[in-house]
Order: sequence, then structure tokens, then C-alpha cells
Amino acid sequence: MKVLVTGGAGFIGSHTVDALLAAGHSVRILDNLQKPVHLKGKPSWLSPEAEFVLGDVRSKADWEKCLPGMDAVFHFAAYQDYLPDFSTFFATNAVGTALLYEVAVEKGLELDRVVVASSQFVAGEGLHCCPKCNRVFGPDMRAEDRLKKGLWEHLCPDCGGQSAFVPTPETHASPPNAYALAKHSQEITALTLGKRYGIDSTALRYSIVQGPRQSFYNAYSGACRIFCLHYHFGQAPVIYEDGAQCRDFVNIEDVVRANMLCLVEPKAVGQIFNVGGGRAYTVAQFAQIVKEQMEARQGKKLPDPLIPGQYRFGDTRHAVSSIEKANKLGWEPRFAPEKSVADYAQWLCEQDAAKDILEYAVKTMKNLNVVRAVEKG
Ligand SMILES: NC(=O)c1ccc[n+]([C@@H]2O[C@H](COP(=O)([O-])OP(=O)(O)OC[C@H]3O[C@@H](n4cnc5c(N)ncnc54)[C@H](O)[C@@H]3O)[C@@H](O)[C@H]2O)c1
Ligand SMILES: [Zn+2]
Repeated sequence: MKVLVTGGAGFIGSHTVDALLAAGHSVRILDNLQKPVHLKGKPSWLSPEAEFVLGDVRSKADWEKCLPGMDAVFHFAAYQDYLPDFSTFFATNAVGTALLYEVAVEKGLELDRVVVASSQFVAGEGLHCCPKCNRVFGPDMRAEDRLKKGLWEHLCPDCGGQSAFVPTPETHASPPNAYALAKHSQEITALTLGKRYGIDSTALRYSIVQGPRQSFYNAYSGACRIFCLHYHFGQAPVIYEDGAQCRDFVNIEDVVRANMLCLVEPKAVGQIFNVGGGRAYTVAQFAQIVKEQMEARQGKKLPDPLIPGQYRFGDTRHAVSSIEKANKLGWEPRFAPEKSVADYAQWLCEQDAAKDILEYAVKTMKNLNVVRAVEKG
């Protein structure tokens, strides 16, 4: 197959490119080397076997240049910063996807498959259940006056008691920010236009993906990067809230396997699948995994993480996906976060990872006024 991979210079894209090449497909990459993801230019891991086109998914002309002659598309290019430039999320993630279908339909291209990268973030706070009322509900984003008091959990709308999260299926959507709104729009666009115009399409909602090549400079690319960086420099990382918020983590190799399956699997057409780790970890548990992996690497004790009562405005309390649907398709995750962290740490050591990376990330989050503190007293 001839496969176009947008965002093919990035983390998930480049690993997928490698798998495609290894399976004998020919690959064209469309990527604009977006900053700050690629702060230092074209990454060294780009395979010379793939054709590289420097271009932008917001440009119709670039789609017109790249799409003809392709059999399939992996659409990974996305804007995923944490800035309040809301329209950029739509321009890149939603309009970019519409342009893919626009050009395919206008030019009458025969695409066998389109796979778009969506996000667990589309589900927002996910589903919760009140054990007392036995009621499942999708909570709204948390009010800041509760966060200021250090009250982190969602309450049952009926009895006001504390609720517990439920692994969230693909049927639930409650996008809480511009990124998630644009990703939700991307999913609907791909599945609806795909069905309408006979372009077999699939949307994958990734949970937190972990592994080597994740940009150091992406302020929001998650706990693995920031915890590993802190421990790399012997510093204690900061855990937000109380550390009991849950996440699920999925290894990049598992994600690539899901991508490759959805390139050919007829049952994936017209569907959304969660691609997650299948197991919930608290952020404190995850920090412990990072600490242990880094201690093993460095052969010395490292400090425990700090829990100073800070929170990030806009964070979801729990984000855990149900992967039942992908399981039925024949996919399951094989690798635990221990491996992801070990692989990432190994890669980190191979980079000339200067201290400026960590300072850059911390400063960026502070400048955006995203990190806030619980009010004392
Ligand atoms: N990494 C995760 O944990 C995660 C989780 C959920 C969803 N996703 C989604 O998966 C996809 C890939 O994520 P990633 O982690 O590999 O990100 P990444 O930032 O490493 O890669 C994205 C790539 O897209 C390119 N890009 C950005 N804007 C572009 C534009 N306008 N035109 C062309 N190229 C552009 C960037 O240069 C980069 O190479 C994204 O759509 C993202 O929203 C990722
Ligand atoms: Zn209740």
C-alpha cells in the first residue's frame, strides 16, 4: 500500500511510519515540523526510506500535492498546545480533517482507508457512578471554588455523595476544551463524510501514549516526560491535586499495533475505538513506577515526589477508557507502564538532554497560569 502519514515526524506518527516501512508499505509524510514539538528542527529518527513533504494540513494545496496516488491515510498531525488560541485547534484538527475529505472527493481519489487520531480527552471527565444511588452519570468540569479548597472528587448530582469513575466507552463524549472539541469534530467529520462518500474511515481515541520520541518541548505531553526529566536530574517531581486521580497509560508499540490493525480490518470501518492501557493507575502510583525505574537505572535512591496541594486548572479528575470494543476487534495492550518508562528513560539518556528542557517545560506552564495552588486556611 501507499500510505500518507500526516504528522509522521512526530511521536506516534514516526513509530507508525517505521512499522509501515517494515511491513513493506511505501510511505509519504506530510508534516510542518511544528514548534515547539520540533524545537530543534527535523528529528534524527525520520527514516530516509519515507518520502518527506514539508507542508501543512491547514493548506488545501498541500493536501492536493500529497493525497493523489495514496491508498490510505494515517492522519496524526494535530495542534495540541495549551494556549488559549482556540481557533488554531479547529483550523488544524477539524478543518485539516475536512480538507482531507474535500480533496479526496473533489479529485475522486480511491482511498481504501483513513485512520484519524482522536483522543481520550473527547470523553472529558468520563463516566462516574454513585454507589449509593446506583446511577451512572457524566459529570461537568469541576468548579474552581471546590478545587481552591482541595476538594477534588466529583459529587453525585442526586445525593451529593462522592462518586467513583467508570471506565468510559466510546459512546460517551463531553469535550472540555478547544483541543477536545476539535478532536470530537474530527471524529464526526471522518466517520460521517467517510460513510457518505464511501471512504472507509476509523477514529482511534488514544489514552496517554508513552514511549521514546515524545517531544521534550511539548508543555502538555504528560507525566511520563515530566517525572522522568525530574528524576533524570535527581529532583523530586510535583504531583498535582492529591495524587489519587486515575489515568490509563498505553505503550507506543501497542498503539502502533492498533493503528496497523485498523489499516486493514473491515470491522473497524465507521467505528471509534478507545486505544488505552486497560488498567487504571493513580498518578501517585505512576510516579512510584517512574521513581523505581529511574532508581534502577541510576543505582541510587531518589527523592519521593512532592504533593504540595497544587492543581492545574482544566485537568480532568479521572481519565480511564474502556477498551472492551477494541478487545473485540482483536487488539489488546501487551506492555505495562514499567516498560514504557524504562524505554523512555533509556531514550532520554541517549539524547543530549540538557537541563534547559526541564526549565523550559516548568516555565511554560507557569507563564500560562495553568498551575494554581489550594488556598490555605
Ligand atoms: N501522545 C499522546 O499521548 C496522544 C494522546 C491522544 C491523542 N493523540 C493524538 O495523536 C496524534 C499524534 O500525537 P503525537 O503524540 O505523536 O504528537 P506529536 O506532537 O509528537 O506529533 C504531531 C506531529 O504533527 C505535526 N503537525 C502539527 N501541526 C501540523 C500541521 N498544521 N501540518 C502538518 N503537520 C503538523 C508536528 O510537527 C508533529 O510532527 C495527534 O493527533 C494527537 O492529538 C496523542
Ligand atoms: Zn448518589
